[in-house]
Amino acid sequence: MAFDFTGKTAIVTGGTRGIGAEICKGIVEGGGHVVVIGLNEQRGREFVASLGEGNRYYRLDVGDSAAVRSTVARILDEVPGVNILINDAGVISAKPFEQVDDAEWKRTIDVNLTGTFTMCSAIFPYFKEHGGGRIVNVSSVAGKIGGGLLGTAAYASSKAGVNGLTKAIAKEGGKYGISCNAVCPSFTLTSMTTALSEDPVKHDKVISIIPLGRAAEPSEPAQMVLFFASDLASFVNGEVGDCDGGIVMDG
Ligand SMILES: NC(=O)c1ccc[n+]([C@@H]2O[C@H](COP(=O)([O-])OP(=O)(O)OC[C@H]3O[C@@H](n4cnc5c(N)ncnc54)[C@H](O)[C@@H]3O)[C@@H](O)[C@H]2O)c1
Repeated sequence: MAFDFTGKTAIVTGGTRGIGAEICKGIVEGGGHVVVIGLNEQRGREFVASLGEGNRYYRLDVGDSAAVRSTVARILDEVPGVNILINDAGVISAKPFEQVDDAEWKRTIDVNLTGTFTMCSAIFPYFKEHGGGRIVNVSSVAGKIGGGLLGTAAYASSKAGVNGLTKAIAKEGGKYGISCNAVCPSFTLTSMTTALSEDPVKHDKVISIIPLGRAAEPSEPAQMVLFFASDLASFVNGEVGDCDGGIVMDG
């Protein structure tokens, strides 16, 4: 099913592969355009070309706050009418707590949490001036349950931060027509989880705690992101939704 994105333009961080690539394809299939942000220039250009005319790629490390602010300003200057921001870029941190050193902690928080903050912060005044906008953050079940599937302390903390940030922006942005929601996937078959997929013991342990008894295809969390980004979710705001096969069941 394609959601309708006719006349809409979305910035999608981390959009060149995995869940982000499925999000970009869904927006284009729904008649919209994407501004894809990623780290790999060649992959980014090839991916955007595969999406067709009117889609663009910008190279940006979302963990570099100054670069985020200047690149978002450039995008808003060069691309007419941005309506949607999807923060999908993320890195995994899978070390046991005692092995998480300061550098690992900082990089995980810088990309997953500060990157999401800075992207939202850089676009917020534009959305405010232009009558609103929809923000969707790709979080993780790890942010709700303290990690434990693959991501550990730094990853879980970064995603718990994203969940709090999502609700705070939803509260303050609502009056300007800015909605902010998050999607929390669990084990999804992307390059982020290749190591998990290839370790039969860890793989089976993770599958055993997912009530649906399998990992997700990247298109599955992408569909929930697309719903939150679409006008069908016009009254959904501050929702931190689970797309995790049934691990978390909020009461
Ligand atoms: N795969 C899973 O099991 C799973 C589960 C829960 C949440 N998530 C979240 O889903 C999102 C997408 O992950 P994925 O599974 O598709 O993995 P992936 O590794 O295929 O995609 C991550 C994307 O983020 C980009 N990225 C990483 N660091 C970046 C940076 N500093 N600046 C710009 N781009 C950067 C990568 O280049 C890549 O395109 C992430 O936020 C991840 O934490 C994934």
